[in-house]
Order: sequence, then structure tokens, then C-alpha cells
Amino acid sequence: MTITITAGIQKGGCSKSTTIGVLAHLLSEDGHRVLVADLDSQGNVSELLSQKPSNEFIGRSVLEALQELDPRKYIYTVNENIDLLPANNFLATFQRWLYTGKSYKGEYIPYKGNPSLVLEQTLNKVRDNYDFILIDTAPSLSETTTNALCASDYVIVMFECSNWCYSAIPNFMDSIEVAQEVSERGVTIAGILRTMNDVRRSDSKAFNEMIEEDYPEVVFDTILTRKAPIGRISLYGFESNRELTQALEQYKNFYKELMQRVKN
Ligand SMILES: Nc1ncnc2c1ncn2[C@@H]1O[C@H](COP(=O)(O)OP(=O)(O)O)[C@@H](O)[C@H]1O
Ligand SMILES: [Mg+2]
Repeated sequence: MTITITAGIQKGGCSKSTTIGVLAHLLSEDGHRVLVADLDSQGNVSELLSQKPSNEFIGRSVLEALQELDPRKYIYTVNENIDLLPANNFLATFQRWLYTGKSYKGEYIPYKGNPSLVLEQTLNKVRDNYDFILIDTAPSLSETTTNALCASDYVIVMFECSNWCYSAIPNFMDSIEVAQEVSERGVTIAGILRTMNDVRRSDSKAFNEMIEEDYPEVVFDTILTRKAPIGRISLYGFESNRELTQALEQYKNFYKELMQRVKN
């Protein structure tokens, strides 16, 4: 059975795109078939996996897939095990299209269904082809994020150890609850992933502890630290990245925890 996982939080710079990219890589190394759906108009995970500028995917992206409720024409093959449904800046027009039927190309493509279930319906056309579908989301509680949550079995709540991320968590949890009511899939919280932790800062440590006190049942034990080789995955990708082993070290522990949780 296919397992669909979203990484989300409405704050930027919390390692969402990096984590989705790394998970795709680790799953593929384990021989799993993976589809990565990029639901962020920034197209960061698209660029990471394809090593191409996201503008290359204009007219051939997740936006067109959503408008046609069928991703098959828009899937880009990354390698033997990873497929990508890429995004670019035009995904920012998703909301307008959803409520007016007007595409950015000026076509009229009306959508009559539940506005939160467009992605769910779209992915259903290909779900059986994959062991895992991973969804990257935008730093906002917009329609694309709601669609991602409604199309997922699990969500990883990304927590960058700072005050502004701490204050983002309650509203994100509310959005998860709404998705649980709207979609029959009933997304489960896989866990809260503490990330970008600066080991030299006492305030980072304090936020790590606070989130653990607030959500003791769901935080992952693994805490990802701020490390240059992880940051440089965005530069070098996964092919011929000489420091990849170093970059993936901490992620392997998180990956183990995640697999235990989603397979149980
Ligand atoms: N653990 C880490 N250590 C250092 N840099 C990181 C780490 N995780 C992500 N980065 C870098 O921080 C920035 C934000 O990460 P990103 O994955 O784009 O976050 P988001 O998708 O939540 O906005 C990127 O430049 C990325 O390369
Ligand atoms: Mg991102």
C-alpha cells in the first residue's frame, strides 16, 4: 500500500524541502518507488532533484496536473526509483484558478469539487505506482498546503528551533485537524521534527525542550543540527556530492524513526 507523507509548517527556512529531498533519496536507496510532489511555487525540491531551474517546468508542472486532475503527462523521471511532479512560480495562480476556473494561460477550466481535495483526486490516478509519495509544501497555510494535508496519510511537522516557529505550531496543528475532518484519508501526525538546531545557542535548546513538553507523544527523538554539508545539499544535490555521507549522517536516525512510525 502506498504511504503518502507531507512535510509542512507555514514558516519558511525550516528544512522542509531539504528533508523531502533527503527522504526521497534514502527511500530510493532502499529500493522503494517514490513520487515527490512539489506543492511549493518556489520549486526548491524540484530544482534539488532535477538539478534544473524550476522555470524549465513551466507548462509541464504540478499546476497543470491539478487542473487536469491527472499527473501522468507531467511526471518527470529523476532516476530509476524517483519520479517528480515539479513546481514553478505559476503554482501561485492555483488559488485563483480554483475559485474562478481561469488558468494563468487564460483558459477556462472549471473545477466543481471540494477545493481541498484536488491533489487527493489527482494523485489517486497514480498512487498504485509508488511505495511512497512525498509532498513538499509552501511556507503558508494556503490552499496548496490544505490540499497536501488532505492527500496525505502522514505529516511531518517541521520545527526549526526558534520563537517564530514555536508560535507557528498551534495554527499548523489546527490545519491538520481541519484536514482530518475534510478528507477521508485522515492524516496522522508522524511526528514533530526538530531541525536546524544550533548547538551553541541556549535559546535553541530551550525551544527544543519546550516543544517536547508540549507534544511529548509526537516529537522525534532525533534532533537535526545546523550543519554546512546539509545546507550544501541544495548546491550539490545527491549525485557526485562528495560530502553526502556526512550530510546524511543525522538523517539516517530520523529515517529509521520515521519508517518505524509509518509502517506500524
Ligand atoms: N540542517 C541544516 N543545516 C544547515 N543548513 C540547512 C539545514 N537544513 C536546511 N538547510 C538550508 O537552509 C535553508 C532552508 O532550508 P529549506 O529546506 O529550503 O527549508 P524550507 O523548505 O522549510 O523553507 C536552505 O538554504 C537549506 O539549504
Ligand atoms: Mg521549501
